[in-house]
Amino acid sequence: MTPAAASRIAVVTGASSGIGAATARQLAAEGYRVVLTARRKDRIEALAEEITTAGGQATAYTLDVTDRTAVDEFASAFKTIGVLVNNAGGALGADPIATGDPAQWRQMYETNVIGTLNITQALLPALTASGDGTVVVLSSTAGHGTYEGGGGYVAAKHAEHVLAETLRLEIVGTPVRVIEVAPGMVKTEEFALTRFGGDSDKAAKVYAGVAQPLTADDVAETITWAVTRPSHVNIDLLVVRPRAQASNTKIHREL
Ligand SMILES: NC(=O)c1ccc[n+]([C@@H]2O[C@H](COP(=O)([O-])OP(=O)(O)OC[C@H]3O[C@@H](n4cnc5c(N)ncnc54)[C@H](OP(=O)(O)O)[C@@H]3O)[C@@H](O)[C@H]2O)c1
Repeated sequence: MTPAAASRIAVVTGASSGIGAATARQLAAEGYRVVLTARRKDRIEALAEEITTAGGQATAYTLDVTDRTAVDEFASAFKTIGVLVNNAGGALGADPIATGDPAQWRQMYETNVIGTLNITQALLPALTASGDGTVVVLSSTAGHGTYEGGGGYVAAKHAEHVLAETLRLEIVGTPVRVIEVAPGMVKTEEFALTRFGGDSDKAAKVYAGVAQPLTADDVAETITWAVTRPSHVNIDLLVVRPRAQASNTKIHREL
């Protein structure tokens, strides 16, 4: 494979739903050969087929980003890749510090932080070998400020932000750039449902009265724009929120 073709391969983690799936669709539309990864095989296989039918190039690979052995095996298939989108992640619970569940905190750290660390470490040689690599870290506005009940998720997303900032410092001078995208409120099908253990009433309250939360497509467009800037342009950090959200705690609701 030529270096130019290699730099057109984009690995997206958490591509089975929400922002990851939308990003995979949009990168494929931009001409990237997308590699879709997530734990739910049926969903990524269906998306790969959808993209292929639409004329794009996509393959699916079932992967849990917290499983380092599996991540290393996955990465060994690539000598060079152009883009890694670290999207797999999410929140569990919204309890105050006083009563938060340490197991949920641990799981959020494992998925958002160690998952991103695992796959970034494993693919960094291939990203460097492409001569033009891009690492995207999907943090959150929760990585830049806190809110009541957000403790465990906020802590994990702050750590993801620090991972991105530190990596950018450490690899400067190599042909790899590090882009952090930090969205505010995004209404995806599963994020809030997962957070509240499938409780749809609690999940609906997250978005109650908010005229237009961001959509997965809005964030995917932001990611795709940042990734498709010329190689020498590094979008360090992009914070994107809906107009109705001025901060993590100041949200306009029409109730
Ligand atoms: N929605 C928001 O308001 C919002 C705001 C800011 C940032 N974010 C961040 O954006 C990212 C995507 O969020 P979303 O709203 O699109 O949520 P989502 O629809 O729940 O998507 C989460 C994705 O992560 C994958 N995933 C979870 N654990 C995994 C693991 N151990 N290994 C591999 N994949 C795993 C899931 O796939 P499988 O279950 O199939 O593995 C799923 O595809 C997350 O990092 C989230 O923290 C979301």
